[in-house]
Amino acid sequence: MIDTHSHINMIESLSLDEIIKNAFDNGIDKIIVPSAYPADMENIMDLVNKYDNVYGMLGIHPSEVKSWDDSFIEKIKNYAKNSKIAAIGEIGLDYYWDKSFNDLQKEVFIKQIKLANELNLPIDIHDREAHKDTYDIIQEHNNGSKVIMHCFSGSVEFARECVKAGFYLGIGGVVTFKNAVKMKEVAKDVPLEKILLETDAPYLTPVPFRGKENQPAYVKYIAEEIASLREITKEEVALVTTENAKTVFNIK
Ligand code: NI
Repeated sequence: MIDTHSHINMIESLSLDEIIKNAFDNGIDKIIVPSAYPADMENIMDLVNKYDNVYGMLGIHPSEVKSWDDSFIEKIKNYAKNSKIAAIGEIGLDYYWDKSFNDLQKEVFIKQIKLANELNLPIDIHDREAHKDTYDIIQEHNNGSKVIMHCFSGSVEFARECVKAGFYLGIGGVVTFKNAVKMKEVAKDVPLEKILLETDAPYLTPVPFRGKENQPAYVKYIAEEIASLREITKEEVALVTTENAKTVFNIK
């Protein structure tokens, strides 16, 4: 399996070697690490150069766009010459924490979509309480990049709309939470061919480790929950979602 969105550089309770060993021991053989802060980009280049099975994404998280600088565009273009840069991400809109700079969020989001289009890379989308604006901006500005709705948090209706538009949905630990009725419904409803597994480690730890720090090894609990909701085997979930991840991120 592939953990398609995992901030392993932010996990505090384990070393990188331990994180990767635990992942392998639990059937996760590739990890894709998104950028959030500007300084992440250097860290991610180090990680992808050091570890064979670690891939990276470059970009600035919507909550961090005040630190955006147009010089990042050239920097990202340069770094993206490395074939282990699998996407531009995580980018998007977050109206949950602070609504005071929504316009700047939109502006930087659009710049990063255009950059992804130019680099022919997929976009890994952070959308928190901004479903409509996120969807509309992608539809208006994205020209050819594959779209992943990371940590999908919308309704079944919105999920169907995203699938219809060709987007992939990243499903993480939330689906294992007992009270996550909406998320369970989504995981059951959308075609398996559109689902990607992700932990968003160190956040959103699945049951039975909810409350502790998350890590890529826990992808298996997400796969198990999706399998049980869809009444199929965990192996089928693993097989299909791994193929999906390879296709969307263009990795072997
Ligand atoms: Ni994230």
